Amino acid sequence: MKMETQPHKKHHFGTSHMPFLVQHCCLIITLLISTLFSITTAFDYADALSKSLLYFEAQRSGRIPYNQRVTWRDHSGLTDGLEEGVDLVGGYYDAGDHVKFGLPMAFTITMLSWSAIEYRQQIEEAGELQHTLEAIKWGTDYFIKAHTSPNVLWAEVGDGDTDHYCWQRPEDMTTSRRAFKIEENNPGSDLAGETAAAMAAASIVFKKTNAHYSHLLLHHALQLFEFGDKYRGNYDASVGVVKSYYASVSGYMDELLWAATWLYKATDNKMYFEYVLSNAHKFGGTGWSISEFSWDVKYAGLQLMLSKLLREEKEKKHRTILEQYRTKAEYYVCSCLNKNNDSKDNVERTPGGLLYIREWNNMQYVSTAAFLLSTYSDYLENTNQKLNCETGTVDHEEIQSFAKSQVDYILGSNPMNMSYLVGYGPKYPKRVHHRGASILSYKKNKGFIGCTQGYDNWYGSQEPNPNVLVGALVGGPDGKDNFEDRRNNFMQTEACTYNTAPLVGVFAKFLHIENHKTVHDCNSLLLASFK
Ligand SMILES: *[C@@H]1O[C@H](CO)[C@@H](O)[C@H](O)[C@H]1NC(C)=O
Ligand SMILES: *[C@@H]1O[C@H](CO)[C@@H](O)[C@H](O)[C@H]1NC(C)=O
Repeated sequence: MKMETQPHKKHHFGTSHMPFLVQHCCLIITLLISTLFSITTAFDYADALSKSLLYFEAQRSGRIPYNQRVTWRDHSGLTDGLEEGVDLVGGYYDAGDHVKFGLPMAFTITMLSWSAIEYRQQIEEAGELQHTLEAIKWGTDYFIKAHTSPNVLWAEVGDGDTDHYCWQRPEDMTTSRRAFKIEENNPGSDLAGETAAAMAAASIVFKKTNAHYSHLLLHHALQLFEFGDKYRGNYDASVGVVKSYYASVSGYMDELLWAATWLYKATDNKMYFEYVLSNAHKFGGTGWSISEFSWDVKYAGLQLMLSKLLREEKEKKHRTILEQYRTKAEYYVCSCLNKNNDSKDNVERTPGGLLYIREWNNMQYVSTAAFLLSTYSDYLENTNQKLNCETGTVDHEEIQSFAKSQVDYILGSNPMNMSYLVGYGPKYPKRVHHRGASILSYKKNKGFIGCTQGYDNWYGSQEPNPNVLVGALVGGPDGKDNFEDRRNNFMQTEACTYNTAPLVGVFAKFLHIENHKTVHDCNSLLLASFK
């Protein structure tokens, strides 16, 4: 199931056989071309990748380590879990507040891990593998603590209502840190399933470099899946405080299929494959055609992963079900490409070309789409296939270039000329809806800033945030490409960890392509000259 991407293998012609002069000629031409065009049009994906990983350091809860690079942050949430007698120090704040929400945190870790699995070599080439592993481990270390016994998982620390009442730095936090859990009598199959998926995916990432840790993660993943599968229910029925923030609208069936898919990838144990086959219909895996992939709705992701198994599968009965999964995966991809017949089956786009699902934090859907389309185009390329959409056949290059258009929109190729990745390029959101970033750093002034004092003195200020939340992907523009950089415009200016996570893989992919493009162009030129 694991697929290594080697996008240049097929097209690589060794330059060593080429005449010396032609090589040099080509080099000069390439330099000329890049001076004239590339430099002005290509984005600096290396810079974007490095910055995206800094964001996870800014979102850290708990004890900040000595090598922390985002220096305006300090320790916070050091007594999390104390009231309940469990150590829940660590993990990530999900967005601009200080609640530790389990479901979006787990999805963030799954997507960071998937990025590291698909694009490990590209991330390593960029010198960012260590930072990526650290970002994943900051989450998985927390999940290990939160999973206190086989059928108990701590789901949340703090709650949205009391947290949002205050505007404070995390280091000054005075809000309730009450913790909430799921267990046998208060189940949460969606949360247990997503956390199992995150742990299984991360276990693949750490397999090579830290076998012991990888094994530990897998152990938790197996238990969490069993817990989620055996004690069925939506977590928001057990943890009521999450309802107005991260309610599980799609239910838990997608997460159970998703977890089983990741466990199959991590273990190769047929039991998990049987699970996704026998529950395919009942759990909606082969029934739901969906155009969004998010912390709530996992169908498109698992359909895409499972359709890749078709090539290896020989049993006819299995092939039939996998083909049904593939049909749904293709629906998603075609929908993003605007290539389904009926317009209601296609994702809307802004006039500037951005995929548009809904006005509140639309960028989360753009970054997950960019990721899924990137990996799917790799898959088509590596297996020499094309995609048949209702309105026509599409090749891997078209899918890839559409994914790139979304990434480039994010980085500044849009009607506002604005990078929605904070800290990247000359123009980016300066008033991100983020408590810590909008108040003077605790490192600069340790004087306590109270609950409402933050609202009075910092939230309402027209000034840019004193701390730049580098690498955060904000909610982004509306359906007409308009964006208002106001701190209280939380639909557009708040960032979330699961927005940035898929971009780690996507930036690494496009960086790799840019780095090898000159060689590729050069080879094509040489080839042409020999014809
Ligand atoms: C899509 O539209 C084309 C052209 O009108 C038609 O030939 C085709 O059958 C349609 N496909 C589906 C699945 O509706
Ligand atoms: C964006 O840049 C283009 C080209 O330089 C310019 O024509 C346009 O007015 C700019 N738009 C905004 C909103 O700054």
